[in-house]
Amino acid sequence: MGKIIAIANQKGGVGKTTTSVNLAASLGYYSEKVLLVDMDPQSSATTSLGINRSGLFNTIYEVLTNQREIKDSIINLPQYKLDVIPSTIELANAELKLKHDERNFVLYEKLLEIKDDYDYIIIDSPPSLGLFTLSALYAADTVLIPVQCQFLAIDGLTQLLNTIRIVQSELRLVNRKFGIEGVLLTMLDKRTKAGWEIVHEVKSYFGEGVFDTIITSNVAAQVAPTYGAPILNYNAKAPSAKLYKNLAKEIIKKNGSKK
Ligand SMILES: Nc1ncnc2c1ncn2[C@@H]1O[C@H](COP(=O)(O)OP(=O)(O)OP(=O)(O)O)[C@@H](O)[C@H]1O
Ligand SMILES: [Mg+2]
Repeated sequence: MGKIIAIANQKGGVGKTTTSVNLAASLGYYSEKVLLVDMDPQSSATTSLGINRSGLFNTIYEVLTNQREIKDSIINLPQYKLDVIPSTIELANAELKLKHDERNFVLYEKLLEIKDDYDYIIIDSPPSLGLFTLSALYAADTVLIPVQCQFLAIDGLTQLLNTIRIVQSELRLVNRKFGIEGVLLTMLDKRTKAGWEIVHEVKSYFGEGVFDTIITSNVAAQVAPTYGAPILNYNAKAPSAKLYKNLAKEIIKKNGSKK
């Protein structure tokens, strides 16, 4: 049974999509079978993988609204060692289309159909605590929280942690476990004292919950998406490519290889 990890933080631009794409590709690099689900109407994960959004119909929106079987929405990207279910801006319409009382659980039910086909399913989510992030949390076994090493990094995390606790207690009622995979420090500028201060602040707040791997600020992480490729495929020697491989190793070590 595959493990589903939601990547979430309602704060914008903290590295959710970069982490989703590059963690997925790095788990693939270590021969885990990986699916990436783009649950953000901005569809940055989709474009980061070089998928052209125009005329794209096999999207997560079509799956959630019963217009397409989930199996038929999967795009295989063997060159990046992962599969992806893409999104387009049309996903924003799901808010109106799905019935209010069940909409948080539709993604979970759809993913159940294919969970056994994968070792890991990674879900990218948008910068809000609305339907798409909630759907990702309700579908997931764990949540990975990227935190940018910048001023006010911890701001808003209380709100996210409260939401996680609510999801956790609701899932307990249906005998499902849900927890935090870890907090990932991202975009650290190693040269600045301020950056390291944030590292200490987050570590003293979350203790053991913080991954040993810290993603440093690195130009390859910024440029790779414009080439439509994970960092590993753009420049395998880039520091961020190695760091995301380390993160994948940490996750595989923690969970045991799923192969
Ligand atoms: N390690 C890094 N070094 C340098 N730039 C990075 C790094 N990680 C991410 N970035 C850049 O920071 C910006 C925000 O990253 P990303 O899109 O992954 O964040 P996000 O949390 O998904 O944003 P949103 O909330 O809008 O979905 C992007 O331009 C990305 O290329
Ligand atoms: Mg994003």
